[in-house]
Amino acid sequence: MADLAKAGLLLELGHEDTVATITLNRPERRNAQSPAMWKGLADLGGELPESVRVVVLKGAGPSFSAGLDLRAFTAEGIPGEGSALPAGIGAEELVDLIGVYQEGFRWLRDPRFTSIAAVHGHAIGAAFQLALACDMRIAAEDARFCMKEPALGLVPDLTGTKPLVDIVGLPRALELCLTARVVPADEAYELRLVERVVKSGELDGAVEELVTALLQVDAGAARATKELLVQAPGNTLDEQCLAERRAQAGRLLGARGK
Ligand code: CAA
Repeated sequence: MADLAKAGLLLELGHEDTVATITLNRPERRNAQSPAMWKGLADLGGELPESVRVVVLKGAGPSFSAGLDLRAFTAEGIPGEGSALPAGIGAEELVDLIGVYQEGFRWLRDPRFTSIAAVHGHAIGAAFQLALACDMRIAAEDARFCMKEPALGLVPDLTGTKPLVDIVGLPRALELCLTARVVPADEAYELRLVERVVKSGELDGAVEELVTALLQVDAGAARATKELLVQAPGNTLDEQCLAERRAQAGRLLGARGK
């Protein structure tokens, strides 16, 4: 297993190893993220036991996460890690390196489990994108989302632009990114950025409720249904109907074979 403590992460397995709860665990820095944390997340994604059906991502301390560790682009970089922008790196190499960073986010879409972000306090930049990388989001009423990258002269590049546009539509995504304004929890709910908002202090309970409901459904059906739903926006109706027929045939014949 990856060196999680070094990456600022904590892993707990529960519900007889069917639920993995991952905590961003650098509260003294508001869970600021780093390339080592993203590598830790990607490694975790590859190493979770097959039994895991639900992944919960949350933050320790007062905030979900303050986004990228702002020391990452300084010449000195993050202590123990160096700069996220190695000196002398070329354009193509940098494109590939950002691809490596993105792996820390992409695995949360894997159909073998359902991922839930439990967001409280700030979710800024990379943290907003990490929440968007999850299948669902539950927020405490003090949650605040901000896509800050353009305000820092950058673009959101950690897989967040597609889910953002898919969820809120292009005009609203443009408005949120190009003003880098803070979206409070109640507005995030109206925009469908979060599935539920609960009182501060009730977040863990609300997540547990959702986890319990998700675990009631047959594991194979859940996986096949997620595969189907994830491809729906990119498919024509004909393609999606075919995908449904194939998935159902797999379910029915698989059940008969048992
Ligand atoms: N990077 C490094 N350190 C950070 C940090 C960050 N992103 N956010 C907070 N910290 C540190 C602070 O420096 C402070 O450290 P010290 O105690 O040593 O002074 C500690 O965490 C606590 O921070 P605050 O006192 O500011 O805590 P707060 O609760 O009052 O405020 C906050 C929290 C609103 C998140 C505020 O800290 C903040 O605005 N942080 C910066 C957020 C930011 O701009 N993030 C980058 C977004 S862009 C991105 O993520 C992606 C990209 O590609 C660029």
